[in-house]
Amino acid sequence: MAAITMKNIVKQYGDGFPAVNDVSLDVQDGEFMILVGPSGCGKSTLLRMIVGLEDITAGEMVIGDRVVNKVAPRERNLSMVFQNYALYPHLTVYENIAFPLRLAKTSNEEVQRRVNQTAELLELTEHLERKPANLSGGQRQRVAMGRAIVRQADAFLFDEPLSNLDAKLRGQMRTEISRLQRRLGVTTVYVTHDQTEAMTLGDRVAVLRRGVLQQVGSPRELYEEPVNLFVAGFIGSPSMNFLPASVDGSFLETPLGRFELRDERKIEAVGDRSVVLVGIRPEHFEDVSLVGEEKKARGSIVRAQVDVTEWLGNELYAYVPYEAPEDLAAQLRDLSRELDSDQLRTQAVVALDAASLISPGREAELWIDTTKVHIFDPATGDNLTRDEERVEQLGRMAEDSRAAQREAQRGPADDETGASVAES
Ligand SMILES: Nc1ncnc2c1ncn2[C@@H]1O[C@H](COP(=O)(O)OP(=O)(O)OP(=O)(O)O)[C@@H](O)[C@H]1O
Ligand SMILES: [Mg+2]
Repeated sequence: MAAITMKNIVKQYGDGFPAVNDVSLDVQDGEFMILVGPSGCGKSTLLRMIVGLEDITAGEMVIGDRVVNKVAPRERNLSMVFQNYALYPHLTVYENIAFPLRLAKTSNEEVQRRVNQTAELLELTEHLERKPANLSGGQRQRVAMGRAIVRQADAFLFDEPLSNLDAKLRGQMRTEISRLQRRLGVTTVYVTHDQTEAMTLGDRVAVLRRGVLQQVGSPRELYEEPVNLFVAGFIGSPSMNFLPASVDGSFLETPLGRFELRDERKIEAVGDRSVVLVGIRPEHFEDVSLVGEEKKARGSIVRAQVDVTEWLGNELYAYVPYEAPEDLAAQLRDLSRELDSDQLRTQAVVALDAASLISPGREAELWIDTTKVHIFDPATGDNLTRDEERVEQLGRMAEDSRAAQREAQRGPADDETGASVAES
């Protein structure tokens, strides 16, 4: 096992386009790191540079304590699973998994021991003699995974390994990968653009935009304290709403109505700006009639014309279109296009309690939890209200929960299965 340290990594392809631009990222020994970002932001390129399938234009790639810029892929001792993994159709599941060990001229006895352990871990034992063509998608996926973990790699690298599975299988495999990684404790870098995978799998998530690293942190940190509009809009589904607002002292005039910022820290952060973007997550709205008095006092109430509602059983989404000044509306449309968002109109999405009786075409009274709003600079996109104290607290929480989780996963029952694959 090994840590992976990237120092100012740059990748320019032949045409000079910087696919990865000055990325510095530390993946700790045993850590599960997620790489996310919209299509074309450089995720696969970065992963391929770690493995050695792509030359590094500038910067330093360190694995363990060795600079590997010039080290051949074979000598880096890493295991990679590609988006379009290929199994050998003429080989059995057993031989597919055994393949890297055969390449390394491992003894038959050792191959048998390792393949059996791996198969057990991935629940493939009863399929070992079958051919890939006769397996389900999820089983095939597990064989590809088995081939990656059967040898003692210093790190696992996954490039959207679940993207060609249906939703149910994805869910199952997601849980399996998470459990497996925690058991084996092998350093892992995992590329995805699936929200759920990004939020649930990793210890930390790194967000890339056009080759530039935006923020690295625990899922909770990215969600609660994003550094800029891009991260705020990318993490979370439905996305955070961004409302243009003119500033009037401690009041904000938004298309949904006027409300007061009662937090000194936030008022100060706004400074002398006359226009800002207010970020409010859908779940920080509520139907006023369902909010108790005490809670009501903590936020503000606005009146809004609801266009469409979607009742999902456990909650209700309401869509509220609004008018915005053309320059800001154009900026928001660009952002939403870049985020691959389907939400191209200037409209707010609010998530209300399923008991709400709000209906489309009517005006609704909405309560906003104003303690949770973020304020962004419209020119730079920076989050002006990021709470550094909270960030530190979230960082400590993430460290603690990670340590506890690993402790629990390395219980005695695992010694004969998972743990020993990595140690043996
Ligand atoms: N061989 C190449 N030659 C030139 N440009 C390339 C090459 N491979 C990738 N690129 C460019 O580099 C950028 C990053 O590509 P990359 O494949 O790393 O994106 P990605 O984040 O993995 O996207 P996706 O989510 O679509 O897989 C893209 O703009 C792409 O067009
Ligand atoms: Mg890719």
